[in-house]
Amino acid sequence: MLCKNFLDIASLLLLAAPSAYAARSSGCGAGQGLSSGVQVLTINGVERQYTLTVPDDYDTNNPYRLIIGMHWWGGTMTDVATGQTVEEGVWAYYGQEQLAEGTAIFVAPQGIDNNWYNEGGSDFMLVDEMISTVESALCVDTDLRFAIGFSWGGAMSFALSCRETEYPLRAITSIAGAGPYECSPGTSSIGYLGIHGISDDPDRGRTMRDLYITNNGCTGEEQPAPSAGSLTHVKTEYQCSGPPVTWITFDGGHQPAPYDGGTGDNGSETFVSGEAWAFFSQFQSNSGNSTLGRRRAY
Ligand SMILES: *[C@@H]1O[C@H](CO)[C@@H](O)[C@H](O)[C@H]1NC(C)=O
Ligand SMILES: *[C@@H]1O[C@H](CO)[C@@H](O)[C@H](O)[C@H]1NC(C)=O
Repeated sequence: MLCKNFLDIASLLLLAAPSAYAARSSGCGAGQGLSSGVQVLTINGVERQYTLTVPDDYDTNNPYRLIIGMHWWGGTMTDVATGQTVEEGVWAYYGQEQLAEGTAIFVAPQGIDNNWYNEGGSDFMLVDEMISTVESALCVDTDLRFAIGFSWGGAMSFALSCRETEYPLRAITSIAGAGPYECSPGTSSIGYLGIHGISDDPDRGRTMRDLYITNNGCTGEEQPAPSAGSLTHVKTEYQCSGPPVTWITFDGGHQPAPYDGGTGDNGSETFVSGEAWAFFSQFQSNSGNSTLGRRRAY
């Protein structure tokens, strides 16, 4: 009886102050050290940039999710941060900014000449330095870092997820993942959502997916892909002992914002933003609930 009451009280305390249990970055509780806009870092003597978007009602005591938006080959951080290539605003950060409703901080790094050749690991260094800077200046839940990107940005999200780093990601969304990438050591266990058009060599996305099917202890069969002309998408959710792996194929090509019932991109109608946000937002802080012996979330 005593024991049960104790647990009830402990649960109440946990519910009353959930953010106290998150993995808080060093920026939590301090003055807001960075504001939205273009930021500059020096990496290996080279000036690099990233765009930062902080919620308007930023609260230094609230650990936010950190979502990294990676641009595609020839794209820019501004394209990612504004959504302008598909639909300005609605498609900002691949549609995640609108759906997060102020619960996430967003960053979009800029590649050299709009590419991610990562010479000498310089793009990885940029991302690490960006995360470190943002987490010192702002309040981030360090259990809840994510990346999302289209094409080479999807491949870079994958590359960022499978390396060894002080700043591990929790999950990624790779849309039409393609382009050169390194996956080393490739032993991490993180959530993977892959989205690929049937006429866009989906095996490129499947290769990335299959690493996480193995690393995350997943079983299950891929659903048959939609047929050409169906203008639909098909989702497969694997059964995993570790973090989730989800795979979506759609009737379309190399594009970031497909929607059912039509061709081309549409930021308002696409299923991509909703699927990515549902995938990311299922992850909770690791640190909190484990103190009461509850199931560790992924
Ligand atoms: C996107 O879909 C909306 C309907 O939700 C429509 O009003 C708009 O014209 C479409 N945009 C494009 C570029 O097709
Ligand atoms: C603890 O777990 C519950 C239920 O899974 C979840 O709703 C809550 O957000 C978690 N708290 C933290 C701090 O992650």
